[in-house]
Amino acid sequence: MNNETLSMVAKVLNTAALLVIGYGLLVRRKPSVHIPVMLCAFAMDTINVLLVEIYARSTKGAGAVEQTVGLMGGSGSMLQYVHVSTSVLCLVGYAVAIVTGRQLLKGVGGRGAHRVNATLFLPTRLVSYVTSFWM
Ligand code: HEM
Repeated sequence: MNNETLSMVAKVLNTAALLVIGYGLLVRRKPSVHIPVMLCAFAMDTINVLLVEIYARSTKGAGAVEQTVGLMGGSGSMLQYVHVSTSVLCLVGYAVAIVTGRQLLKGVGGRGAHRVNATLFLPTRLVSYVTSFWM
């Protein structure tokens, strides 16, 4: 797969994951559908992290993770900082959703935290998506 194709696949996967998340929200009252759909979105986003890593290595000579560490030195643009931080927060959001979602399933609370996490996760995921087009 050449770099252009890889970049296109990453963009399509990113868009598809966003649509899957939207569908998962529509069916949030049906755990039997909501849970596999959200886990599928998580898997798609995780695969995308790997694709972006491969793409960055072959086009910029350094992987996305390596470049992020480089940005810690203060050499990045505002857009890069926003993209990197929202993307990392999304992964944290998935982890919190899984933990609180499991509590909800077991009937041991978690609804408030699951809702707050969703309210923070969705705008964060949207900002990560929009800024990805400038990376
Ligand atoms: C980032 C991913 C996710 C988001 C944004 C999300 C969002 C939501 C939202 C907004 C609700 C409705 C809460 C309410 O109004 O009471 C909900 C319900 C729920 N979610 Fe998630 N969720 C995600 C992932 C998960 C995962 C991974 C699990 C399970 C491991 C899960 C389990 C549940 C359960 C059990 C409910 C309650 C359904 C019901 O009303 O019976 N969610 N989710």
